[in-house]
Amino acid sequence: MSFSWKLFSRTLRLPLHRRRALKRLAEFHSRSRTLEEIVWWALNFGGKGFMAVSSMQIPFEITQLAKVVYDLKPKISLEIGTAHGGTCFIWSQLTSEEVIACDINDMSHQKSLYEKFPPASSACKVRLYSGDSHEPGFNSGIQRALNGRQVDFLFIDGDHTVEGVTADYEEYREFVRPGGVIAFHDIVDRQSIASNQVGQFWQRLKKVADVEEFVENQFQTGYGIGILRVPSDGAPTTL
Ligand SMILES: C[S@@+](CC[C@H](N)C(=O)[O-])C[C@H]1O[C@@H](n2cnc3c(N)ncnc32)[C@H](O)[C@@H]1O
Repeated sequence: MSFSWKLFSRTLRLPLHRRRALKRLAEFHSRSRTLEEIVWWALNFGGKGFMAVSSMQIPFEITQLAKVVYDLKPKISLEIGTAHGGTCFIWSQLTSEEVIACDINDMSHQKSLYEKFPPASSACKVRLYSGDSHEPGFNSGIQRALNGRQVDFLFIDGDHTVEGVTADYEEYREFVRPGGVIAFHDIVDRQSIASNQVGQFWQRLKKVADVEEFVENQFQTGYGIGILRVPSDGAPTTL
């Protein structure tokens, strides 16, 4: 592996960045927050290096999804694609027992911050899993972590190729309980990046399942959130 100054500098400054991030988190936790405030903080937390918390979401769309998750009152939430922790931050305020956050990138530096996301009054634990969601060993690791329990909410925001999002849906939907919710990000067909192909998957899913869409503007490029409610009497729809 070649030497990277950026990585070296980030690692060197980690203790300072962590102290500032924890101060910011304490400010967030200093009083109870509305759903709108939780979303605002997730998108504007700020910070530097490994301790930067952010999310590429349209406030209207992610707030609509946060309302669905709030109403669902999840005990366990599973996220595929955590990146800089923004959406993980939201789920950790709304989930009562466990948020399982997965990303192909190593998240060991972020662990000490993300684990502190839930408020002190909450019993919620944030657990980070780094690895490729498509690896059978990764999937069975999540299964082991669940230890027979089911997930109430699954957020799929990882590999955005049509094959990738389809595989995540096919391979992780079995973990979601009847009555649970599966949400997808970037469902809008028009995307500025060619490998963002969630829209193609979404068009197929829409034909066979009862879905809801949160899209701020029908002419927008990119973004858009879609949700699928798992029928209370059975497994989620097969494509
Ligand atoms: C759009 S970002 C997630 C953003 C995050 N959900 C938010 O809004 O705060 C997508 C993330 O998925 C991760 N990813 C891509 N392919 C993956 C895979 N096969 N397994 C796990 N994570 C993956 C990327 O590393 C990236 O951090």
